Amino acid sequence: MIINTKQIIDITKVKHSKINEVDFSDITFGEIFTDHMFECDFIDGQWQQPKITPYKALSLEPSARVFHYGQAVFEGMKAYKDDTDNVWLFRPEENFKRINISAARLAIPEFPENYFFEGLKTLLNLDREWIKKGLGNSLYIRPFVIATEPAIAALPAQQYKFMIICSPAKSYYAGAVRVLFAEKYSRAASGGVGFAKAAGNYASQFYPTTLANKKGYQQIIWTDASTHKYLEEAGTMNIFFRVNDTLLTAPTNDTILDGITRKSVIQLAEDYNIKLEVRPVTVKEIKEAAQNGELKEIFGAGTAAVINPIVGFAHGDDTFELPEFEDSFANFFKEKLMAIQYNMAEDKNNWRYKV
Ligand SMILES: Cc1ncc(COP(=O)(O)O)c(C=O)c1O
Repeated sequence: MIINTKQIIDITKVKHSKINEVDFSDITFGEIFTDHMFECDFIDGQWQQPKITPYKALSLEPSARVFHYGQAVFEGMKAYKDDTDNVWLFRPEENFKRINISAARLAIPEFPENYFFEGLKTLLNLDREWIKKGLGNSLYIRPFVIATEPAIAALPAQQYKFMIICSPAKSYYAGAVRVLFAEKYSRAASGGVGFAKAAGNYASQFYPTTLANKKGYQQIIWTDASTHKYLEEAGTMNIFFRVNDTLLTAPTNDTILDGITRKSVIQLAEDYNIKLEVRPVTVKEIKEAAQNGELKEIFGAGTAAVINPIVGFAHGDDTFELPEFEDSFANFFKEKLMAIQYNMAEDKNNWRYKV
C-alpha cells in the first residue's frame, strides 16, 4: 500500500546531539540509541502524519492493549557505511514486506510503503554520523508497531504506533556457540505465529533458553512442536547443516521465520554452485551424520551476526562436538555477504539499497 499524499515527515531535530557522549569502542548491543526516532500513529482508521523527533520516552496509558494482549511486531535490519561515506541497507524491501506479513497475522493494519522508506531514509540521513565506517560496524535499525489503544477488552486495537529507532552496533561475536536441540518446549506451533516477527515469540523463548544456558548451551535449535523430530530454527537465526559438501536447511513454513540472511545464503549457494537441499531435516539424520563424521558444520544465519558458526550440540544426553576447519562454508558466506553489505564487492543480485 502506498498512500498518495503530499504529506511529508514533520521533523523536529535535537538541539544538541548526544553523539560525543558515546564511546563507540565500547558498545553493548542495543543499549544506546541515536538522536532521533520516527513515529506514526494509526487513528480513526488511517495512518496519520509521520514525525521524526528527538529520541525520547513514550507516554502510554496503562490500559494500552499492547501491555495486555501483546499486539506487537517488529523488524531488525542494519545500515552500513562504506569507505567513501555512502550508507547502504541490505534488502530493506524484504523487511518492509515482512513487517506487514507479521502485522497482518496479529490483526495490525498494514503500514504504507512510502512512509516506511521515506521514514527510514530521512532518519538515517539525520543520524548519519552514528553509522561508523569499518567492517563489522553498523547501525541496527528496529522498526516496530504496538497497539496503543487504551482499552482492555480482548479485541484488536483501533489505535497503533509505528516507530523506528536506531542503535549503533559493533561486529557481533557470540563466542563458541553450543546449541541444544529442543525436546520438550516449542517455539512455534503449526497454525500459530512462528513465521511472524511477533514480540511474544521471543518472550516465550526466554525461559527454556535460560534452562539451556544453565546446562552450558547458548541457544536452542527449535524442533517441530508436534513430534520434536524436525529441526526448524534458532531463536534469532535460521539454521544450516553441512553434511559432507551438501548444505541442508528446513523449508520455511508457518512455524519458521523467513529470514533474509537465509534467503541470501540460498541464493549465493546457487550462484557459487554449492549443493543445497531445502527440505525437512531430522534430528536423527544430523545425529547419525555427526556420529559417522559426515556432519562438517552447523551455522546460524541472521542479521545480527550474519553467519554464526556452531561448535557443538546436544540432544538429550547425547553431546557432539564439530570439527574445526578453515575452509568452512560459514566463513565463505559471511565474507561474501559482508562484502556486498559494505559495498566492497559486485552486487549482482541487486541487494544493496543506497540511502
Ligand atoms: C526467529 C528468527 N529466525 C530467523 C531470523 C533471521 O532473519 P534475518 O536473516 O531476516 O535477520 C531472525 C532474526 O531476524 C529471527 O528472529
